[in-house]
Amino acid sequence: EKGGWSSFMAKEVAEQPEAVANTIRGRIQDGQVVIPELDGLDELFLGINRVIITACGTASYAALVGKYAIEQWARVAVDVELAHEFRYRDPVIGADTLVVSISQSGETMDTLMAVKYARERGARTLSICNTQGATIPRESDAVVYTHAGPEVAVASTKAFSAQITALLLLGLHMGRVRGAVADASVDVAELAALPEKIASVLEGEQEHVTQLAGWMADTRSVLFLGRHVGYPIALEGALKLKEISYIHAEGFAAGELKHGPIALIEPGQPVFVLVPSPRHSALVHSKVVSNIQEIRARGARVIVIAEVGDAAVLPFADEVIHIPLAGAMFEPLLAVVPLQIFAMALATAKGLDVDQPRNLAKSVTVE
Ligand code: BG6
Repeated sequence: EKGGWSSFMAKEVAEQPEAVANTIRGRIQDGQVVIPELDGLDELFLGINRVIITACGTASYAALVGKYAIEQWARVAVDVELAHEFRYRDPVIGADTLVVSISQSGETMDTLMAVKYARERGARTLSICNTQGATIPRESDAVVYTHAGPEVAVASTKAFSAQITALLLLGLHMGRVRGAVADASVDVAELAALPEKIASVLEGEQEHVTQLAGWMADTRSVLFLGRHVGYPIALEGALKLKEISYIHAEGFAAGELKHGPIALIEPGQPVFVLVPSPRHSALVHSKVVSNIQEIRARGARVIVIAEVGDAAVLPFADEVIHIPLAGAMFEPLLAVVPLQIFAMALATAKGLDVDQPRNLAKSVTVE
């Protein structure tokens, strides 16, 4: 039930601190990530030399964050494949490949068929799923449940956050098993702090972002830019807007700007820019700041999502949305929240029902 909420989506956005806490619960032992369901399955992670993460829609953007995390922590090559593209070519997979599938429902036919195909080819399979006992986990060698609770709204929010959390856990678990992570204590502390930080974004930015969306109710197109793990979040921000507010939206890797998308910038064009913390990489941060200058010079209306205290972005931003300080891999879980609120508020300002977007279904069980 919706309780006092205006929509299931609003309720589920607000439930994210709890959803993420539930995904983490029971998976940290003595300052290390240990996923009990994967006990005795070290072989899944030891005999492999590559990982393919496969999913559709929002789950495929979680997968992209997972690529960065697993490569960094477990030192194994990761590719992300849209499930519906995966089996219609002749992919190079076999016993040395771990295929990780991500699905909230566990019933998405495209994803299920990709998993079956991977198994037939001799790959090992692990499923990240939110629905207990669903088909995809049953077809996989192992499953890590997200425990986000039922997600009713068609546009995924808390399941997405829980999927990223599960991938971070998986990356640290794999890193430990493969002996690639010497000391995970800082990352484990970051994980544990996530629910509270997500709650502070909800509390601190809800009103500001809702107001912003209200002003922009007549906007015809919105662009989103990000780098590193901000890139998948830019894609997700654009997808949320398309799904529920029917506005043209596109997400880009910020570095791609000069290779084409900058041609779209004309005076007044709203652009969200996800700015990574300068504490992670001064170089990457400065590149994003110069991307902001480039679009600002062409008249874009720049809405920045940046760490509290990042003064470098202030002179070039029309609006600044703040997120708390967090480790590089953890920022996506904070930065996505204002984008979810923005999409929801814009759709609401247009008089649309955010829970029932046209043409979409919660789980697509046909190919
Ligand atoms: C789409 C839904 O059809 O399926 C998206 O509209 C969702 O919200 C995607 O991200 C994948 O669904 P699932 O259940 O496999 O995560």
